[in-house]
Amino acid sequence: MSENKEFAELHAEGKVYKLPIIRGSEDEKAIDIGKLRDESGFITLDSGYKNTGATKSAITFLDGEEGILRYRGYPIEQLAEHSTFLEVAFLLIYGYLPKKEELSKFTDEIRTHTMVNEDMRKIFDGFPVNAHPMGVLSALVTSLSAFYPKAVGMDIKDREYLDLTIIRIIAKLPTIATWSYKNSQGHPLNYPKNSLDYCSNFLHMMFSLPVENYEVNPVVAKALDKLLILHADHEQNCSASTVRLVGSSHAGLYSSIAAGIDALWGPLHGGANQEVIEMLQEIHAEGGNVKSFVEKAKDKNSGFRLMGFGHRVYKNFDPRAKIIKKAADDVLKSLNVKDPLLDIAMELEHAALNDQYFVDRKLYPNVDFYSGIIYKALGIPINMFTVMFALGRLPGWIAQWLEMRQNGEPIGRPRQVYVGEKVRDYVPVEKR
Ligand code: MLT
Repeated sequence: MSENKEFAELHAEGKVYKLPIIRGSEDEKAIDIGKLRDESGFITLDSGYKNTGATKSAITFLDGEEGILRYRGYPIEQLAEHSTFLEVAFLLIYGYLPKKEELSKFTDEIRTHTMVNEDMRKIFDGFPVNAHPMGVLSALVTSLSAFYPKAVGMDIKDREYLDLTIIRIIAKLPTIATWSYKNSQGHPLNYPKNSLDYCSNFLHMMFSLPVENYEVNPVVAKALDKLLILHADHEQNCSASTVRLVGSSHAGLYSSIAAGIDALWGPLHGGANQEVIEMLQEIHAEGGNVKSFVEKAKDKNSGFRLMGFGHRVYKNFDPRAKIIKKAADDVLKSLNVKDPLLDIAMELEHAALNDQYFVDRKLYPNVDFYSGIIYKALGIPINMFTVMFALGRLPGWIAQWLEMRQNGEPIGRPRQVYVGEKVRDYVPVEKR
């Protein structure tokens, strides 16, 4: 990023304000308004921050027009093809691809920290069986601050403890996630096995039952690893921005991550993959007539909305969706999965990619459309889909939090334009 001497001029109220222009390493351009209010009394207003940069970041670059996504400069296509989720986690958090011995150390430390404190079972037991796994996940992640109180106000320069704090949550999130699912099913909780890799361990803890031997399918484990890579970071999305904002008050890593989990839970963000399957279920329940639902989607008064299509940032296609689509095809073929919902999904995909109405509006299948399909084919329960998104996004959240803290960024405190009542005097209740 070059701090050059380019300026934008703001002409307002008969005055001219010179605002520095900065350009990123990929030629993104921004107008630095850091001194605008002090110099002019003006603030800017940008609901949803769609035109506002919150930070300078070196973690992820995406180009919505060109459909580019890179983690620390490495194209997502190459990472999805050649890397592993834990290697990508290391890359995002520490900024470089680890040497073999570094990756082995990182992987082994995660493998040996997968257990959670037995007292956590008492917290699980307190949840009703129908509690949504995302709510359980958020609560249990926050509770990590109680089991590791030193992490709350930790000195991020204490590298050894910082690394341990990071290892602990990457290692324990799958255990907490699967326990929230098992708890909701009334099943006995499974303990992690140090002999298994990250995704195989997750599948074991999810699906093993005392009454039968569960063998992890390597095709499923590999597909899962790829899905986690594809979800690992996405620059300043809603949940990452939440993690940075909460962390900017110097709240601990675990409570900042829990806030990110809560933001991701929303149906407009990470909950979209669960909404996709619920949409497919609705179409199936009403006879599976995709054409009639496609027409409904074009009718704003129908109340029906296509979930999993289009993207607020990618204007032409979501690069992750192209990769997941191939993985979904491979997994469905390999597992010989027969599911009417998946047939409906493929018919809907075909309609969206060939109907001018959707093409004109860039309503192409996005990452949530295909991830919902593949999770279902992998046997992941629908109410766990957003939990899968959280598992994938965890390293990105950690990287964003760490970058914000290491750059010494100030506490986030946006301004507002007040549009409420002007000053007025209090009226006692008997006189109202
Ligand atoms: C994400 O991956 O976080 C979603 O695509 C949403 C976004 O980037 O805004």
